[in-house]
Amino acid sequence: MNDALPLAAELPFSLVLFGASGNLAKLKLYPALAALATGSRLPEDFAIIGYARTDMDDASFRTLVRESLEASGMNMDPHAMESFLSHVHYQQGDYDKRDGFDALAKRLDEMEKDWKNPVRMAYLSIPPTAFVHVIENMCMSGVRRGEFRCIVEKPVGHDLKSYEEIRSALTRCFGGEKEVFLLDHYLGKEAVRNIYYLRYANPVLERLFKNTLIHHVEIAASETMGIEGRAGYFEAAGTLRDFIQNHILLMASLLTMELREKEEGFRESRAAALAEFYLPAATSLNDVVLQGQYGPGMVNGEPEIGYTEENGVAEGSRTNTFIALKLRTRNPHFDGVPFYIRMGKRLKRRDTRITIQFQEHFRVGAGGSPNRLEIILQGEAGMKFHLQTKVGGTEPLFRPLLIEDPLTVTGDVLSEHGLLLLEAMRGKQQWFLSFEEVHTAWSLIDPLQAHLEKPETPLIRYPAGSEVPHEAVEWIAKDGVHWYQ
Ligand code: BG6
Repeated sequence: MNDALPLAAELPFSLVLFGASGNLAKLKLYPALAALATGSRLPEDFAIIGYARTDMDDASFRTLVRESLEASGMNMDPHAMESFLSHVHYQQGDYDKRDGFDALAKRLDEMEKDWKNPVRMAYLSIPPTAFVHVIENMCMSGVRRGEFRCIVEKPVGHDLKSYEEIRSALTRCFGGEKEVFLLDHYLGKEAVRNIYYLRYANPVLERLFKNTLIHHVEIAASETMGIEGRAGYFEAAGTLRDFIQNHILLMASLLTMELREKEEGFRESRAAALAEFYLPAATSLNDVVLQGQYGPGMVNGEPEIGYTEENGVAEGSRTNTFIALKLRTRNPHFDGVPFYIRMGKRLKRRDTRITIQFQEHFRVGAGGSPNRLEIILQGEAGMKFHLQTKVGGTEPLFRPLLIEDPLTVTGDVLSEHGLLLLEAMRGKQQWFLSFEEVHTAWSLIDPLQAHLEKPETPLIRYPAGSEVPHEAVEWIAKDGVHWYQ
């Protein structure tokens, strides 16, 4: 399953970046592309064409890209910087008008005319509301031509209906899924991929992943960040749609999917695992999902404003920035095992972890705690296996016995977007979402979102910088469970 050689794109390509002056492009995409170029992973012939509404020429766009690279702390030498920028171009245009796309198509034809077997790519780093226009215009103009790859950033739509509209525009334009690369950057994280590979490479762990042995599973993500100036997007999204619908559900799928010896069938297996998740039966959805929103507080010793004071957030907004959720799966290995999920912004620390708590055979008593396996993906990353051992004396008293590894990633390491861009350039779809996965995820999320939007559904408030809000602690304690942090 491993490529021994560093991954590189072989065929010449042009990559059109829609949303070229946006935050994602500046913070992640230009640094990722420049790192690929300086790491000799790109072919000699390639072009990056920024497309956005802002009026700019090539020179001012190159300045924008240069400034993003400098701000990223990459420390490129001047020669490498100039060489990278010489591949960068700009096309001004609207997303919903043909002219810009016609001009773009002409430029692409011109740039690629002497290249051998060029691949043409588009990256949609734009609000989901602009997706359909861009897709249709790419197809009606000559932008979509030859071997094509269209990368679409999550979230794909904001509910099942809007997703289906995007999917049907994609299918009309690209004739199916082969040219479509639905990107969730969590699938580019080594630590997230490792959820699967820890199981793949360690049959002994896999043997433990059984409903007869597991008490419950927790998947939890905490961020210290707020919405980072993205009110325009976040107000209409909230944490359930922004994070649970994609990143968290993916982690749950990687943890429970059927292992595949080879790449074939991998995405199908991941999609099948996702389809097995369902909401547990409850008298009220309030027992299944809990939402919260941060108020003012202190994070890392710094005062932070509350969500409703953020620029662009409506007064009295009820958008959630914290979610706790219970899920179950029909997967035969995990059938009956409760999954507890939580994600919150502006909490005390950054931490993403999966905790698998095993059943207790006997109550060990003083000094003991249930066996558990923690896979910590972000924060103080690592894997920890919590066991216990007897302390001296005639009584069976115990102390913790911890087996741990920092899970340091070594080898051919790339940023999430770098790795995913490279895989898309090579036409590899394994770590991109399938249509089916996005469909399933929205089907699970829609009823929850509808419930959360009801004015009578509670919204807890927690001060910025909190540990897990106490209401969420009490909520899960009713099941005899507590959050690991
Ligand atoms: C993005 C969400 O997809 O992921 C953000 O839109 C979130 O709200 C971010 O903060 C988290 O990504 P990471 O890589 O910092 O864990």
